[in-house]
Amino acid sequence: MTHTTKNYRRVDPDNIHDVRSNALGLGGLYTIEVELSRLIGQWIARFPEFPEKLSLAEMVYEEALHAQMLEDRLLELRTNEEDLVHLRSRTTPVFLQLEQLDDPYKFLSGLFRVVKPALQADLRSHLDACPPYVDTPTIRMLQRILQEEDKHIATGLSLLAERNIAWSDTFDLEFELRSGLWDLNDPEGSFLSESFVGKEPISLPVPVWPAAVEYLSTDKPMPDWPVGHKEEMQRCVHELVFSELEALDIFGRYVYEFSGFPWAFYVESARLCWDEARHVELLLNVLERYDGEVGQWPANAPGYEEMVRCTTVLEKIMMVNVIAEGEYSTDTQTQHREAFKQLGDDLSALLKDYEMADEIVHGRFGIKWAHWLADQTGEDFDDAYTAAKQSLEEFKAKYADDLSSSDESSNMSSIVNIPLIRLGPEETESTRLVNASAKRLVGFSEEQISEMTSDASEIIDEK
Ligand SMILES: [Fe+2]
Ligand SMILES: [Fe+2]
Repeated sequence: MTHTTKNYRRVDPDNIHDVRSNALGLGGLYTIEVELSRLIGQWIARFPEFPEKLSLAEMVYEEALHAQMLEDRLLELRTNEEDLVHLRSRTTPVFLQLEQLDDPYKFLSGLFRVVKPALQADLRSHLDACPPYVDTPTIRMLQRILQEEDKHIATGLSLLAERNIAWSDTFDLEFELRSGLWDLNDPEGSFLSESFVGKEPISLPVPVWPAAVEYLSTDKPMPDWPVGHKEEMQRCVHELVFSELEALDIFGRYVYEFSGFPWAFYVESARLCWDEARHVELLLNVLERYDGEVGQWPANAPGYEEMVRCTTVLEKIMMVNVIAEGEYSTDTQTQHREAFKQLGDDLSALLKDYEMADEIVHGRFGIKWAHWLADQTGEDFDDAYTAAKQSLEEFKAKYADDLSSSDESSNMSSIVNIPLIRLGPEETESTRLVNASAKRLVGFSEEQISEMTSDASEIIDEK
């Protein structure tokens, strides 16, 4: 008869965790979940097609939450904050290999055919060694994580099957990756310290987008605006789909390339990423209802390109979250909501109102973490705000100039072509609607709000 370390029919008191060994094992799982969040965060912008981008956006949020739950339990089990920083600063060769791969589908194979099954086995072993009565919080947590990991594997394997990547296609890659896996029987020894995914982020100047769409860099003019209500609506919604897609890619990068924040920052960034994935989905639905098609026009990602151009993390967060989302996008979402209402399209108006609720959270995220970062680095919050706003205005002006000089006849040449801050097709700056109540919820001061509303033609204020 062969023996396993555990009797699978009843709890063997010799093989259950004490507090210390429990924390040691959970610490290994924590490192794995942190590294998975970073890896997926990086790969989102490198996957061309919607099914992968959208599925990975949900996964990055769930992985980040898993790490957060593990962190909370680790603190309860007498692990200190300093140890957590150490656990987030180590890795195993398999993660570094997956970070450096050149083919997104190789990454997908490694993630779902090697890494996640290995994680699943370790989650199960840890769960089986949890003592009764005293460790139910760990049990509840691991059961939830396991459930979500099962779902991820099923989704990932079916994506691979749909892309016709046969099990035998990735044999050599899997073999190689397996030799770089961790060993949780030796959690200290099997990790490499002072190294982690995104420590030296691999740059990605422009995101990878669906094959059906022609990617235009920001310095290239978009085609003329079409004539006719139906075509205009399709074009407008098409652009909105891609402005959400660039935001999705941006927030994946936050999880990957910004190091040194508390883990809560990454959980919130991953949530933003998943929010944007749901905005993409809702807009794909709107596009379909207006008989539009992905790829009907080219698309650009000026928000992403501008984010890459910003030199500091503070400037990036200030530009994307505080200004583009908290300040501008709360107005554009309101404008779009009202425009859809006027068109009698109540479903799109309702969907847009949810999007507006999310934008408020995204703006609030920006103010909160920009303050945190400014406190850490000694940079001045207000100076950084002014600088980011100025560079955005310059960028906007330059782009508007390029457009009007390249196409004098276009009736849309005055439109600010920065999707994250774009006004609706019928709006110009002089007919600007400002949602003051949304600004208050974001966390702007009354003084800032009165400045923002000073040149507005319509103000929504539900004080
Ligand atoms: Fe969005
Ligand atoms: Fe957003």
